Amino acid sequence: MCGIVGYIGRREAAPILLEGLHRLEYRGYDSAGIAVPHRGRLRVTKAAVRVDELRDLVGTGLTAKVGLAHTRWATHGEPTDANAHPQVDEDGHIAVVHNGIIENAEQLRTKLTADGVKFTSETDTESLAHLIARALRDGAASLEDAVRTTLREVEGAYGIVVFDVRKPDELVVARNGSPIVLGIGEGEMFVASDIAALVRYTQRVVYLDDGELATLGADDFHTSTLQATRTSKTETMVDVADEDYQHDGYDDFMRKEMHEQPDAVRRALVGRLDERFSTARLGGLDLDPHELRSFRRVKFLGCGSAYYAGQLGANLVEEWARLPADAEPASEFRYRNPVVDPETLYVAVSQSGETLDTLAAVQELKRKGGRVIGMVNVVGSAVGRECGRGVLLHAGPEVSVASTKAVTNMCVSSAMLALLLGRVRDLSMAHGKRIVAAMAELPDRIAEILAAEAEIEAAAVRFASAEHMFFVGRVRGWPVAREGAQKLKEISYIHAEAYQAAELKHGPLALIDAHMPSVVIVPDDEVLAKNIGTMEQIKARGGPVIAVTNAELPDGLADVVIRVPRSEPELDPILFAIPLQVFAHRIAIHLGRDIDKPRNLAKSVTVE
Ligand code: AGP
Repeated sequence: MCGIVGYIGRREAAPILLEGLHRLEYRGYDSAGIAVPHRGRLRVTKAAVRVDELRDLVGTGLTAKVGLAHTRWATHGEPTDANAHPQVDEDGHIAVVHNGIIENAEQLRTKLTADGVKFTSETDTESLAHLIARALRDGAASLEDAVRTTLREVEGAYGIVVFDVRKPDELVVARNGSPIVLGIGEGEMFVASDIAALVRYTQRVVYLDDGELATLGADDFHTSTLQATRTSKTETMVDVADEDYQHDGYDDFMRKEMHEQPDAVRRALVGRLDERFSTARLGGLDLDPHELRSFRRVKFLGCGSAYYAGQLGANLVEEWARLPADAEPASEFRYRNPVVDPETLYVAVSQSGETLDTLAAVQELKRKGGRVIGMVNVVGSAVGRECGRGVLLHAGPEVSVASTKAVTNMCVSSAMLALLLGRVRDLSMAHGKRIVAAMAELPDRIAEILAAEAEIEAAAVRFASAEHMFFVGRVRGWPVAREGAQKLKEISYIHAEAYQAAELKHGPLALIDAHMPSVVIVPDDEVLAKNIGTMEQIKARGGPVIAVTNAELPDGLADVVIRVPRSEPELDPILFAIPLQVFAHRIAIHLGRDIDKPRNLAKSVTVE
């Protein structure tokens, strides 16, 4: 998705802005641009190029101490040079970078065109530049006032930074539904849509709220609402370092983050497993046992892999707390006029905490009086703040578009929530004790799986030429199959579909032949015999079988066996998902894919 960087201070702005854009590349983009003042005029360089090429186009010799920059992920208009940001007004004074979507863009464009304004791009953003310029011509007292006047006419989501070359000592910033964070330095201020662009320079940040504006100078800033009421902000120190955004000795972020999983899970568990009472301690929930017992249902909401992790969590809540539980894609939730039940605990799951669909689901829930907690990774994110309480994932910054450590920590965090809900109900002390012990061992078990990377690779490359693949799971294995298929399609572009094992015979079996390998999730649990039957059905139709298992299987049943260490059976899905990450990664590497920049995808989906 789009990325924003702005700088005002005493250093040369262009290298800082370009470096900031480079740090945001992981989010996905198709064009990039930068604007700085140069000899009293606005100098805009923008094109449908990568950031490295933009750096070459910008060249050297720019001494400006202020500027703004952007990476664009096309929504309104093709990814062309003209549509790249910054967008400027007709006189070339005002530059705007924008994340989000202006919903009444067509009306604004029609109105401005009727007034004689000539547009040079197809973007919704260009209208903002023209409207701000017009507000200034009409007598707005300041750039901030002109931005405020403009935003009152705008419907939709935005995070924007605005610069007027005639006022080079300030930047104006505003936010509504699209993240904006200010970075505070010594005699310099930064602004970005993601802290990844800032942490190289400062750990001191301020998050803007929806409906807020900020005016930044080199030495200070002030914030206000769209109604011009001053607001006061609290500075936060982010516990993230620049190294977190580098892939060190690894070729790509996905592999680095897969290998960080043992430590990430340890961080998620530390201080949260209560051995004495065989339960979980989740202080961030802010729910006492009486409240925890008051829920009659649990519903997890998330998108993509976060939804699948929620499905795994729902299974555990049903097993351990004996409460009806399910998961639903957050992207559909608000559109079906959901019945919001006051006795349901809603759990919004999101790595970024920025996913617009998940945020909108939370807002819909709150509007209807639902009780919702967050399960997010990014501190200060929109979903986290909107929920106000929940379980932090503690996975550390995740850069890879294909989520690994965050998804694993979603599963681990859901398991802790399920354990807690179980232990305030009828889950026995003895059972709780077994779960706590098994959870404490998860980091070591995950490390064992990752140590077998070469063996999984050997299995994976045998199937790298497949055009399609099935992922098949039953009960606990079903969310694992979905997540396995998701990882493979995201980074290898192999068509992968997940099916519930028993559903195969109701249709998909027709597709099985020697060219359709099936990855079958086979935990050693109550449905082992059924899963063996599924593999026999596939084999009987000539389909290759890749079994992911911790059971002893009959000889010759699977073409390839990927082994997983044993745990408590309920925790098997957490472990079974790990080799599937490696499987997808090694196939994608074998196919020469750009792992960290999968086509058409973005790390955080902040648009509909
Ligand atoms: C995961 O590999 C995907 N890139 C994607 O499905 C992701 O999980 C989804 O977009 C939700 O993101 P979030 O966790 O940041 O809300």
